[in-house]
Order: sequence, then C-alpha cells, then structure tokens
Amino acid sequence: MNTKITVIGAGNVGATTAQRVVEKELADVVLVDIVEGIPQGKALDLIEASPIEKHDAHLIGTNNYEASEGSDVIIITAGLPRKPGMRRIDLLHTNAEIMKKVTREAVRFSPDATIIVVSNPLDVMCHVALEVSGFPRNRVIGMAGVLDAARFRSFIAMELNVSVENTQAFVLGRHGNHMIPIPRYSTVSGIPITELMPSDRLEALVERTRNGGAEIVKLLKQGSAYYAPASAAVEMAEAIIKDKKKILPCAVYLEGEYGIKDVFVGVPVKLGIDGVEDIIQIQLTPEEQGALEKSAQSVLDLLEEMKK
Ligand code: NAI
Ligand code: 2OP
Repeated sequence: MNTKITVIGAGNVGATTAQRVVEKELADVVLVDIVEGIPQGKALDLIEASPIEKHDAHLIGTNNYEASEGSDVIIITAGLPRKPGMRRIDLLHTNAEIMKKVTREAVRFSPDATIIVVSNPLDVMCHVALEVSGFPRNRVIGMAGVLDAARFRSFIAMELNVSVENTQAFVLGRHGNHMIPIPRYSTVSGIPITELMPSDRLEALVERTRNGGAEIVKLLKQGSAYYAPASAAVEMAEAIIKDKKKILPCAVYLEGEYGIKDVFVGVPVKLGIDGVEDIIQIQLTPEEQGALEKSAQSVLDLLEEMKK
C-alpha cells in the first residue's frame, strides 16, 4: 500500500489499532515496542490472519524506528499503566519520559507525519509530543473525545433501544472525569436526546460516560479499555489519510479558541490530510464555558506538576 501508519507501543491498544488498520486496508503498519519479540510476534500473528481476513496490508514488528521511515501517521500508545503503590504523579513522569523518547525517534524518521497521541494522561502527553516533535499544532492531536463520544453514543442507543448508527454525541474537555458531555447537541437522528429521555436518565448516562474508562478498569481488574480506544484512534487516522474532513472531538492545542490559550483540551475539529484543518467554535452556555475552562485549568495544573 502507499500509506504507512506507525503504531508505537504493541500492548493492548497498539496491537488492536494495528489489527483494525490492516483489516480495513487503510495502510501498511509498523508496530514498534521496547520489549523484544512482542511487536515481532504480534505482527507475525496478524500477518498469518491476513489470508482469512482477506487483506494485503503489510505489517512489520520491530524494536527500532528505521522501518517507520516516511510514515503518514504516527499513533503513540506507549506507556505504563499505574501499578499498586504508584502515585499518579509517578506515572506522569514515567510516561512523559517514554513520550519524549518515542516522539524524538519517530519524528526523526517521519518529519512530515501527523501524530495521534493515545497514552495517558492524554492531554499532558500531547504537550510533550508537541514540544519534542517541534511540529505545528495541526499535526499533533490527542485521542479522547472520539472514544468518550462513542461511549456516550453506545449508552444512548442502549437506553433508547435504537441503532447506534442513529446516534450522535458531543463532548468537550479533558479526558477522564473532567470531560464535558453536551446533551443538547447529542442526538438520535437529529432529535436532541433531551427530548427523548427524562433528565434523571440523561444525567445517569452522562455520569456513566464520564466514568467510562474506570468502569472498564474495574471489570478487567488489570489494564484498561482497548477495543474502543483502538477504534477511536483508527477513525482519526482514517479521517486524515482519506482527507475526509470529518468533524470529530479531539484534544488540540488551543491558541485563543474558546477563550483558552496554550493548552491541549478536547474540542470539535475538522480532520483531513493536513491534520487539524479547523477548530469548530460553537456558542457555549456560561455553565458549559465555565466547565471547559475548569477542564483546561486542570491540564495546566498537571503540566505544572510535571515540571516539578
Ligand atoms: P499496555 O501496557 O498494554 O501497552 C503499552 C505498551 O507500551 C507495552 O507493550 C510497553 O512495552 C510499551 N512501551 C513502554 N515503553 C515503551 C517505549 N519506550 N517504547 C516503545 N514501547 C514502549 O497498555 P495499553 O492498554 O495498550 O494502553 C496504552 C496507553 O494508552 C496507556 O497509557 C493508557 O492509559 C492509554 N489509553 C488511553 C486512552 C485514551 O482515551 N486516550 C484509552 C485507552 C488507553
Ligand atoms: C479510557 O478512557 C483508560 O483512558 C482510558 O479507557
């Protein structure tokens, strides 16, 4: 194929992302991980599935970056999950170091790529990738809103017993429990969900969406969600590679949009071949604007902690 996606981190999210990309024949994939054997083994396993899945995309698993040269999109999923006894701030420092290292290597071989950051804490890791890559802000994008919106859409469909395809959901803000679902812009076939369910049920769905990541962690007991996160990252990559001009909620570096400056936070953007081609600004209520500013401030607070 004449498009290439490098996926860094061959763990749960990375390997599933690679699988979805090749099965869609979206691009060839280079799967990179620091652990010897893991990316090679997973890539080979996926290659061996290709005759049955009927695709001709190429996969390479590797521990270095040479094969990633000239990638169109780099998806970064490398990082450590929190272990017992570890403080959040420990993970912040550890993952920031990993992010620095992998970004530096990846952009050396693919200076024209668009980076999609997946590793947590998402919005802060986006800052690291932007700074280390030296890329313009339109080519460093965080994946969170697409996942959060997909979770909200799934819950709306379950609640109303309608097709997920009829649902649309609108979310803003930082990934995690600072995210802000906006029910008045969330619809079923164009009908705002505020007209389709009582407010207590709506509030319950919003709360479930905010805690969507934690709900899966609690069920799995170790590790976090990866099927839906991989789908979300691939939707973004596809919008870029196919120049679809899709409007999706993504973490982007704001420079005054929504009255917010110098911070990554989730807002609706247009994704196409140039990465973020537009930041869509909608009129927010004073309450929503306040929540978005609070969400952005929490990213800035984490950034300050990271610098200590
Ligand atoms: P995982 O533990 O299964 O995989 C992480 C992989 O990164 C491991 O294979 C590890 O060897 C690799 N890695 C560590 N250091 C590396 C380095 N220097 N170079 C290359 N690879 C390296 O974790 P999982 O479940 O795949 O999650 C990955 C990250 O994505 C985590 O930070 C997680 O919190 C985050 N995440 C973010 C979501 C979002 O909405 N933004 C959703 C789901 C996960
Ligand atoms: C999630 O929302 C852990 O950020 C990850 O599932």
